[in-house]
Amino acid sequence: MNPLIELRKCGNMWLCLGVLLLVGLSQAINPLPDPVFETFLNETNQQLAVIYDQAVLAQLLSELRGPNDLVALLEIEVTDEKLLKFVRILTTRKAKFKRLGLGDALQKRQLAKFPQLGYEALPSRDLDRVYALASKLSDNYKNVNLCAYRQPSNCSLKLIPDIQSIVQASRDLEEIEYYWFEWRNRTGLATRPQFVAFMDLYKKTAQLNGYPRAEDYWFRSLELEAKDSMALLDHIMHGLRPLFLQFHAHVRGSLRKMHGEHLVPRNRPYPQHLAEVFIGNAFRRVEAEWYMDLPSPLTGLLNITQEMHRQGLTTTQRIFWNVAEYFRGLGFPLLESSLWNFAQPVSFGDDDRCWHKAWRYYALPRMNFTYCPLKDEERFFNMFEAQSDVHFYRSASVQPTLFQEEPFPNFSDAIGKCFSLAASSPRYLQKLGLIREKKWKELPARLNRLYILGLRTIFLLPVFYVLDRYRVEVLSGHIAADDNEAYWRFTEYYTGARAPTKRTNEQFDVPAKLLMEVDDQYASHFLSIVLQFQLLKKFCIQSGQFERDNPRKPLDLCDLSDHREVGGVLKKAMSLGSSVHYREVLRELVGEPEISVDGLLTYFQPFHDWLQQENLKNGLEVGWI
Ligand SMILES: *[C@@H]1O[C@H](CO)[C@@H](O)[C@H](O)[C@H]1NC(C)=O
Ligand SMILES: *[C@@H]1O[C@H](CO)[C@@H](O)[C@H](O)[C@H]1NC(C)=O
Ligand SMILES: *[C@@H]1O[C@H](CO)[C@@H](O)[C@H](O)[C@H]1NC(C)=O
Ligand SMILES: *[C@@H]1O[C@H](CO)[C@@H](O)[C@H](O)[C@H]1NC(C)=O
Ligand SMILES: *[C@@H]1O[C@H](CO)[C@@H](O)[C@H](O)[C@H]1NC(C)=O
Ligand SMILES: *[C@@H]1O[C@H](CO)[C@@H](O)[C@H](O)[C@H]1NC(C)=O
Ligand SMILES: *[C@@H]1O[C@H](CO)[C@@H](O)[C@H](O)[C@H]1NC(C)=O
Repeated sequence: MNPLIELRKCGNMWLCLGVLLLVGLSQAINPLPDPVFETFLNETNQQLAVIYDQAVLAQLLSELRGPNDLVALLEIEVTDEKLLKFVRILTTRKAKFKRLGLGDALQKRQLAKFPQLGYEALPSRDLDRVYALASKLSDNYKNVNLCAYRQPSNCSLKLIPDIQSIVQASRDLEEIEYYWFEWRNRTGLATRPQFVAFMDLYKKTAQLNGYPRAEDYWFRSLELEAKDSMALLDHIMHGLRPLFLQFHAHVRGSLRKMHGEHLVPRNRPYPQHLAEVFIGNAFRRVEAEWYMDLPSPLTGLLNITQEMHRQGLTTTQRIFWNVAEYFRGLGFPLLESSLWNFAQPVSFGDDDRCWHKAWRYYALPRMNFTYCPLKDEERFFNMFEAQSDVHFYRSASVQPTLFQEEPFPNFSDAIGKCFSLAASSPRYLQKLGLIREKKWKELPARLNRLYILGLRTIFLLPVFYVLDRYRVEVLSGHIAADDNEAYWRFTEYYTGARAPTKRTNEQFDVPAKLLMEVDDQYASHFLSIVLQFQLLKKFCIQSGQFERDNPRKPLDLCDLSDHREVGGVLKKAMSLGSSVHYREVLRELVGEPEISVDGLLTYFQPFHDWLQQENLKNGLEVGWI
């Protein structure tokens, strides 16, 4: 903080005195910058930038050549090694400077933001074990083979895509149930000892990285202690609960209609295997006919793919420039033509999992862009996310390397998602000429849209919550690492789903749900999902596009295009990078110091009202025992 600025702002004498005292005090605590320390930080920032760039180039190569390209894989390994070597040296020197307590607050924060050793802090025997366990656990998902239903000798099916597509298409309940059990038999019990051993090594890792409580290490990227992180997650879950319970009741009602009361009894959690098939539809983006009890089946679901083509939005290049104009309208500089001229198409493998992507460098004065073929509307909305990243990277590049990351992982995803959400607003699509019928802006179509989006978000949050909650309870020693009954207590309470038959500690079902790495923390994904709605609400209020209790200006119709005031706030907040805690960034961004579920609730309010009426009308019970 510059004391001169503070003094100039000072009108009231008593306040001034206070400021002066504070300034004097903080200078006594924070000694003047030490030149040796400053040089060390400068050099660290420069050297890290160079190593990070090599890592980004290796990743980019892998993106362009495909995940099995050996040259790219080797490059990644080499740069990982380089980084590790550097971090080892840094860690020793960091400890020295930390002991001396040198530097001002920002410099101390840079020190705190040094990359950590993580597992590499373990003694070599443990290190080998931890990598072996992690890779066994994660390979298990990719490599485990399941036997086909009623074909005990046909045992080469993969969960994704084989089982997934069989189950999604199946009407045979026994078959669906069979795969639910088969998957858990093959992933759970088989990996139980590995899971338990892994969690122990994780605790040890936390200690060696300077976290006496392993659960605090779990949330280190949020820079909050475990009790504060959990309090935040609990608070959000609590706020979400009334909406979730209504939606759950509705879905349970649909499942009962499909499968009968004997399988989906009243006042009980619904069977997980049936609910997953149902909710999974929303992620597969199926046609309207697939959904049971869509709020307005006759209205159908909006799909702008064909209209995009009719309007000449037929190439990714056109989309790129249209979206670039959108961000210019928000007050960002127009992207330079070289970014597109040098952009590379990604054209191999699984077309469904291709995303447009911005690649930022830390030392190299440039950026790269990779893009996917224009398949359908998803690629259009995805462009908003990719270009939002471009602007984030550019804004944060004023910071030293150590502060250029986002305030927490997935934070900038929330900004991107906020804009793709705003771009999918029927008002904006109409402005673009991509929809012509008035009906898409009316309540029935809006409810349909909220229903699908709700399946994709509202049901996901409790699942993410349980996965983190379970592992945090394990790390803090409240439950054993393989306490399957505890896992089902959380699952039933928070997600309203139960196993097809009672599960005990004889089984172990946690690994079946951890489709990502076993140590992948879900809290930041969870918070990112919630944050996108909070940002949207803030920007829409700021631009006058949302007004509480004004039925003509609901949040789900908010169109942010051409509201330059949005860009100003955003640029300022993004340029903070991670130089301050995420709560400070939020203060800048939304004028509140914490993530709140309020935006999400406002967004879904019309749908919540509808659910309440429908559940009442159809005599559907809400909640479970
Ligand atoms: C460190 O970097 C800053 C910003 O680039 C610069 O102003 C300062 O002079 C540098 N200090 C040293 C000791 O190199
Ligand atoms: C194995 O089962 C799957 C799924 O039912 C089926 O698609 C496949 O054709 C079967 N393979 C053999 C060799 O029977
Ligand atoms: C799962 O394992 C149990 C006990 O080990 C066995 O009874 C059951 O048949 C298995 N189910 C499937 C679908 O493999
Ligand atoms: C939208 O329409 C396109 C082309 O008509 C189709 O390929 C795509 O699957 C549709 N998407 C959805 C979600 O219905
Ligand atoms: C990019 O390509 C366009 C059209 O081919 C050209 O007009 C423009 O000068 C190029 N820009 C750069 C920076 O190369
Ligand atoms: C990245 O961008 C630079 C120029 O900005 C260009 O020379 C290079 O070919 C690009 N590389 C890839 C892989 O897109
Ligand atoms: C969070 O980031 C990870 C890794 O980049 C990504 O796979 C995931 O989809 C993101 N989650 C959300 C909710 O944005």
